[in-house]
Amino acid sequence: MSIDREKFEGGVAVITGAGAGIGLGLARRAAELGMKVALAEVNEQRLDAVDRELRAAGAETLPVLTDVSRPAALDALADTVYDHWGEVRLLINNAGIETIGYTWEIPTEGWERTLNINIHGIVHGVRAFMPRMLASGKEAWVANLASIGAFGQMPLQTAYIMTKHAVQSFTECLALEVSLTGKPIHVASILPGMVRTSIFEAGAGADSQNDAAAAHRRTMRDYMAHDGMDLAEASRVMLEQVAAGEFFVSTQPEMTDDMIAGRIAFLQSRRAPQLSEQTRALIDAA
Ligand SMILES: NC(=O)c1ccc[n+]([C@@H]2O[C@H](COP(=O)([O-])OP(=O)(O)OC[C@H]3O[C@@H](n4cnc5c(N)ncnc54)[C@H](O)[C@@H]3O)[C@@H](O)[C@H]2O)c1
Repeated sequence: MSIDREKFEGGVAVITGAGAGIGLGLARRAAELGMKVALAEVNEQRLDAVDRELRAAGAETLPVLTDVSRPAALDALADTVYDHWGEVRLLINNAGIETIGYTWEIPTEGWERTLNINIHGIVHGVRAFMPRMLASGKEAWVANLASIGAFGQMPLQTAYIMTKHAVQSFTECLALEVSLTGKPIHVASILPGMVRTSIFEAGAGADSQNDAAAAHRRTMRDYMAHDGMDLAEASRVMLEQVAAGEFFVSTQPEMTDDMIAGRIAFLQSRRAPQLSEQTRALIDAA
C-alpha cells in the first residue's frame, strides 16, 4: 500500500481554498485516498461545484463557506469540522492570492487583503485547529502552502513574495514548537514551483489598478499555462511527501533546489539584490 493511502485512508482532511487550483487538486486526491474532506472556500459557486463533484465520485464531504482572512471564520470552521467528524488527521492551509504591482501603487485594501489571506489565514488556521489536534494524541499532519518564492525575490510580486517568506519562517518555527510538545504531529511546508491553476487569472488578486500590473499578470498567466505542472500530478506528489513526513514538500524539486541555492548565494554575497536577466526579460515582456 502506498504511504499516502496507508496514513490518510479513513481520516479527515481539512483544505482551505478548496474550490480551485491546488486546493481543489488536493481535495480530489485526498478523496481518492479515502479521506473525508472538509472543503473550506470563500467562493460559494466554487464550493458547491467541488462539493458536488466529490460527492458524485463517492466521497464524504463537508462544505464550509469560509473566508480565511477572518480569524473567527477559522474558529467556526474548526468547530464545524470537530462537531461533525470529531477528529482531524490532515490540515492543509492552502488558500492564497497573488497580488501584483509596484509596492507603492498597491492600495491599502490590497495590502491588507493579501497579508490577511496569505499570512493570517495560515496563522489562524493553525491556531484554530492545533490545540484539538495535539489533545487527541493521534498522529496528524499540518501542511502550509508557502512557495519556492519563499526563497526568492521578484519585483512587482513583492506583496506575494513577502507573505511566502513569512509562511516559510512561521512553518519552520511551528515545527520546532510541535517538537517541544513531543506529540505525533508532522509539520510540512509545501513549496510548489509552478502548477497550472487560476492564481494569475484576471481579478484573482489584489493588484494595483494600472496597465503595468495587468500586463505583468497576463505574462505570468501565459508563463504558467506554458510551463506549469499538471495539477493532478502535482497534487499526488505533494500528498505523498506530506504523508511521508517530509518538511520540505516540492512539486518540482529541481526548481526548489535552484531557489534555495540562489538564496544561499545571495545571503553569502552580502550584495544588494540584483535584477537577473531572466527577471528583467519577464518584466520587459509585459
Ligand atoms: N499555482 C502555483 O504554481 C503556486 C506556486 C506556489 C505557491 N502556490 C500557493 O498555493 C496556494 C493555492 O494557489 P493556487 O495557485 O491554487 O490559486 P487559485 O487562485 O487557483 O486557487 C485559490 C483558491 O483559494 C480561494 N480563496 C481565495 N481567497 C480566499 C479566502 N479569503 N478564503 C478562502 N478561500 C479563498 C479562491 O477562491 C480559490 O478557489 C496559494 O497559497 C499559493 O500561494 C501556488
